[in-house]
Amino acid sequence: MIKDLIIKNRSYRRFYQDAAIEKQTLRDLVDLARLSASAGNMQSLKYILSCEPQKNADIFKHLRWAAYYKDWPGPIEGERPAGYIIILCDTSISTNYFCDHGIASQSILLGATEKGLGGCIFASIDKEGLRKTLNINDKFEILLAIALGKPKEKVVLEKVGPDGNIKYWRDESAVHHVPKRSLDEIIIEL
Ligand SMILES: Cc1cc2nc3c(=O)[nH]c(=O)nc-3n(C[C@H](O)[C@H](O)[C@H](O)COP(=O)(O)O)c2cc1C
Repeated sequence: MIKDLIIKNRSYRRFYQDAAIEKQTLRDLVDLARLSASAGNMQSLKYILSCEPQKNADIFKHLRWAAYYKDWPGPIEGERPAGYIIILCDTSISTNYFCDHGIASQSILLGATEKGLGGCIFASIDKEGLRKTLNINDKFEILLAIALGKPKEKVVLEKVGPDGNIKYWRDESAVHHVPKRSLDEIIIEL
């Protein structure tokens, strides 16, 4: 059921790094993005895949993890993603991608969840550093990175409390809690 899949599709930031992801798995996930909606059907998104340890390490150092966890620089060696999909806009096709990259990300992550994987979207990227490290041509605008792997953490959804705090938190057992607003709060009755 789509609701079960969406509930399971949380942002995971700790993984079994040894659980390798095949290149074909990443290609299958990008195929879901390829078949998704695109503004004006321009399909200007392009993708870089990574499932090799060295390339993964090169990408990892340019990502900024969990802004609300001030004292956590990101997953330790052994708990890092086993793969990445980097979403680019090919500006030779169009410089306007509307929200295609968000739709593509969700398609990729739902597909990953269905395969027993998990991931996290990154907009907070040292883009120039990543461009240099991977030698990405200037005609590609770097939009998002999706980290992927076999999740090694538990994520629990919570209700936003009366104080309105939406910050995720980790408890003493390292369980990650994510507050979500109620349906009544987000639907505006006119
Ligand atoms: C567009 C977008 C950009 C994001 N960028 C980052 C990021 O740079 N670093 C990070 O750790 N998480 C990032 N996230 C993950 C969010 O923090 C996460 O979606 C949020 O905490 C809610 O958790 P959930 O995905 O489990 O519902 C991003 C999510 C989205 C949709």
